Amino acid sequence: MTIRMGILGFGGMGNWHFNHAPQVDGVQVVSAHDIDPARLAAARENGLKAYESREEFLADPDINFVLVATPNHLHKQFSIEALRAGKHTMCEKPVTVSVADLDEIIAVSKETGRLFTVHQNRRWDRDYQVLCKVIRDGTLGKVYSIESKVFGNNAKFHGWRALPEYGGGMVLDWGVHLMDHFTFLYPDRKIKTVFAQLFSLANPGVDDLFKVEIVFEGGPSVHVQVGTYGLRKPPRFFVLGDLGTLTIDDFTGEKGGITVVKHTIDELGNVIITTTAGPTRTMAPWPDECFDKLELPPATKSWTSLYENLVGVLRGSAELIVTPESVRRTMRLIEAVFESARTGASVAVDL
Ligand SMILES: NC(=O)c1ccc[n+]([C@@H]2O[C@H](COP(=O)([O-])OP(=O)(O)OC[C@H]3O[C@@H](n4cnc5c(N)ncnc54)[C@H](O)[C@@H]3O)[C@@H](O)[C@H]2O)c1
Repeated sequence: MTIRMGILGFGGMGNWHFNHAPQVDGVQVVSAHDIDPARLAAARENGLKAYESREEFLADPDINFVLVATPNHLHKQFSIEALRAGKHTMCEKPVTVSVADLDEIIAVSKETGRLFTVHQNRRWDRDYQVLCKVIRDGTLGKVYSIESKVFGNNAKFHGWRALPEYGGGMVLDWGVHLMDHFTFLYPDRKIKTVFAQLFSLANPGVDDLFKVEIVFEGGPSVHVQVGTYGLRKPPRFFVLGDLGTLTIDDFTGEKGGITVVKHTIDELGNVIITTTAGPTRTMAPWPDECFDKLELPPATKSWTSLYENLVGVLRGSAELIVTPESVRRTMRLIEAVFESARTGASVAVDL
């Protein structure tokens, strides 16, 4: 089966799918619908069938797959309409603004027998692939702390992203990706507690800086932080294990490194060393021969790997990676984030 895709919402991300999805064998983009005449004209200029009416777009038998890439508040309604029109459907993230809304989509997907998935493309980010490889290989030993941080400079949101009723704000934007990283990395490990703080520095009404602590049963403790106004950058990932430390500096996944310990702490002696921070024993820098410094392993996949998986699923040769159930766990986590931010308290969860 070939995916013959119609794009519902031909804006920034709809355009990304138009340009990248056909790079995968078995994917063609056929048509688009948008309420903005300028975006419809752009679709037409790019050789797509451009529909002014959503009903006519969904009724077109020439498409068997719909990508929903509108602002967030429309995802539930449009995903359900596409499934009911008999189309396999992928929705952009955040899939919905509540778990209850997602449950309604999942029910319609089951009822219609059509595939439903979410564009959680950052499961294939290069930095994240490296993080997963190093943790799964056991190079760091038992991992007890992970920091995941992303900062931009521009501060102000534009258009619908600044409006709460459209599902704006950073938790529903980057947060959905970065928290999905950890529900996906640890599918069978229970999350015990979530504590979150949201701030609005430059965008009243929506969060533009957040800090979240997620505690998995038996570890690790994961800190996720995102801000639109960070003028200097910490490493993208900073991970502590009982055998080593990992830094991944940026999204390329190529800069940073792994340092693993060769000697145990007992062998280091009990000497007080004077450093620029003052005299210290506990925090003393170890001599170089105590460590092995390792290169980061390479990332091998890209965002289009998600489409390769979809083609495989629809041809019966692959298991779906972005299952609605896996995204549901992420959305439950997101709801706990909002609850913690509202109450100012840590939220006990069992998910
Ligand atoms: N996965 C990712 O990495 C990623 C990146 C960026 C955006 N997104 C998601 O993609 C979605 C779209 O974001 P964007 O940046 O492309 O926004 P955008 O504003 O650039 O595009 C949205 C498009 O939807 C159209 N639209 C609005 N209401 C409509 C309606 N009722 N019917 C038809 N079309 C309508 C708009 O005219 C616009 O062209 C959002 O859900 C966003 O969270 C995902």
